[in-house]
Amino acid sequence: MVGNSFGHRFRITTFGESHGPAMGVVIDGCPAGLSLKPSHIQEALDRRRPGQSNLTTARKEKDQVEILSGVFEDKTLGSPITLLIRNQDARPKDYNHLKEIYRPSHADYTYLKKYGHRDPRGGGRASARETACRVAAGAVAKRVLDHLGIDVYAFTHQIGQVVLEAAPVDYSSIEHHPTRCPKQSTADAMQQAIESAKTEGDSLGGVIECHIIGLPVGLGQPVFHRFEADLAFAMLSINATKSFEIGSGIAGTKMKGSEHNDPFIIEKDKVATSTNFSGGVQGGITNGMPVTIKVGFKPTATIQIPQESINQKGKKAIVEGKGRHDPCVIPRAVPIVEAMANLVTVDHILLAQSDTIEQIDLKR
Ligand SMILES: Cc1cc2nc3c(=O)[nH]c(=O)nc-3n(C[C@H](O)[C@H](O)[C@H](O)COP(=O)(O)O)c2cc1C
Repeated sequence: MVGNSFGHRFRITTFGESHGPAMGVVIDGCPAGLSLKPSHIQEALDRRRPGQSNLTTARKEKDQVEILSGVFEDKTLGSPITLLIRNQDARPKDYNHLKEIYRPSHADYTYLKKYGHRDPRGGGRASARETACRVAAGAVAKRVLDHLGIDVYAFTHQIGQVVLEAAPVDYSSIEHHPTRCPKQSTADAMQQAIESAKTEGDSLGGVIECHIIGLPVGLGQPVFHRFEADLAFAMLSINATKSFEIGSGIAGTKMKGSEHNDPFIIEKDKVATSTNFSGGVQGGITNGMPVTIKVGFKPTATIQIPQESINQKGKKAIVEGKGRHDPCVIPRAVPIVEAMANLVTVDHILLAQSDTIEQIDLKR
């Protein structure tokens, strides 16, 4: 398995299986001298934690972070930062009945076929428990962004058929509702939809929107590491994702050029655009407008309704979802999308430090 690292200059490697002793991440390339306390990371982990409301899995993990290296007296040293999160509420026996059956639309079949040997406990490495490591690393990246005055906000745009109407978003309301949708009436309808699906033993999917605000002009490395290309790569590496859109996205494909082009204007002595269908990126390079993306997630694969499948011997089998599962991954995926956006942004800020010869300076 060679795909466990992410990023160019701000590079993370995650490790651990869902029901193994611990999960963790090594961050390489974090600048020295950054103020970093465990509480900065813990706050982010608490937002992703399982068991946070009746809309999420009942697995109870404290997700307490331990900083093993790279930080001294609450400041980064420039050396690799290792963060460890011990698994405490693992119940591997919950998965005994699934040991030899392929859950429809989960990773059981592909992992076994590819590696020949797999950890079936809670999905092993394929479990979204791995994303705790990304959230921990994303919180470190956020410290860099805070230092530079860049804000990243992710929120719930859609759950099942319930969609948040286009309107200015009150970012301060995101954490006021367990769905993480910033508009109370829509959030309540989303909550009801998840609760009904859960009662039926079923699951729902949805869409998360994310805004990156305060970016300078010039992040992105054409041609292969365009800013939006790295964002898409980051987002589609999250479990259960099915789509990525930037700016107008799919809706923009139905517009005319005359409607879709973003007119340039001068605003507060700076170049801006009066609309933002581009989503803040042109030619793969940020243009100073907010970067706006949407990430679509499928309905959770493991449901409590019996489903037909086959076992490892190719014989028909019935899958009955037992154990603890998220009826909809969206509320917990919001901080994961935010974390991946933090990581990509910091990575590109560091990459942009060598864009021109004027930036290369040996003076200390
Ligand atoms: C935050 C989060 C929580 C998830 N919880 C569950 C879960 O409880 N049960 C489940 O079957 N899948 C869950 N998933 C999705 C699986 O991890 C994912 O579907 C599986 O690894 C197969 O990968 P794929 O859907 O990307 O193809 C979750 C995903 C995320 C992002």
